[in-house]
Amino acid sequence: MKEHWNDVYESTEVKTLGWYEDKPTLCLQLLAKCDIEKSDPVLDVGAGASTFIDCLLDEEYTNIIATDISEMALNKLKERLGVRKASEVKWIVDDIAKPAYVCKLENIAVWHDRAVLHFLLEKDQIQTYFSTLKKIVRNDGYVLIAAFSLKGAKKCSGLDVKNYDSNMLTENLGEEFHLIEPLNHDHRMPSGDIRPYIYTLFQRQR
Ligand SMILES: C[S@@+](CC[C@H](N)C(=O)[O-])C[C@H]1O[C@@H](n2cnc3c(N)ncnc32)[C@H](O)[C@@H]1O
Repeated sequence: MKEHWNDVYESTEVKTLGWYEDKPTLCLQLLAKCDIEKSDPVLDVGAGASTFIDCLLDEEYTNIIATDISEMALNKLKERLGVRKASEVKWIVDDIAKPAYVCKLENIAVWHDRAVLHFLLEKDQIQTYFSTLKKIVRNDGYVLIAAFSLKGAKKCSGLDVKNYDSNMLTENLGEEFHLIEPLNHDHRMPSGDIRPYIYTLFQRQR
């Protein structure tokens, strides 16, 4: 998987990637609903070279953690940000389905994942994803997950995906996580094609 994603980011201009967004408007709208301080830890899981991190910096979040299985993706993001802005972000290369570092984080206020969970196909990978999330997201913390919806694409970047609805995410997260907002959204790819997503925001309340 690491090789696959490194190849993708090495061979493709970021702005032409199917999942690219000039501005991650929906995620920013959902983030704005989270009652957190700008200094609270926000974790972007499978950040890729997404503009979400640029926007967090612009909005003066000061405790940003970007993780991805692909160092190539994170390097592209660092290059775009430039040395000064990149130094304000904590960078972690890790596999979220088999984490060595992310699982050691604590008190995460916001877990943000756009278009990553749906690439995990094996039961144990999905279990590890959710057990890591439950270990590191603080009580009262938020979980923002955007995945291909049930009527969405069955493949992305040449890989099979698992499609989700808000009930499936609720079930995986368990009773402690309360669904604040489910949103259906059609993402228009740079090619003009449409990819239906389900966006969800949960809050943990033990
Ligand atoms: C479709 S891209 C989405 C990137 C970004 N979240 C966005 O919205 O632009 C999927 C990202 O997940 C990363 N990824 C895939 N499998 C992963 C895994 N097991 N652990 C961590 N990152 C993974 C890929 O390297 C890629 O950057």
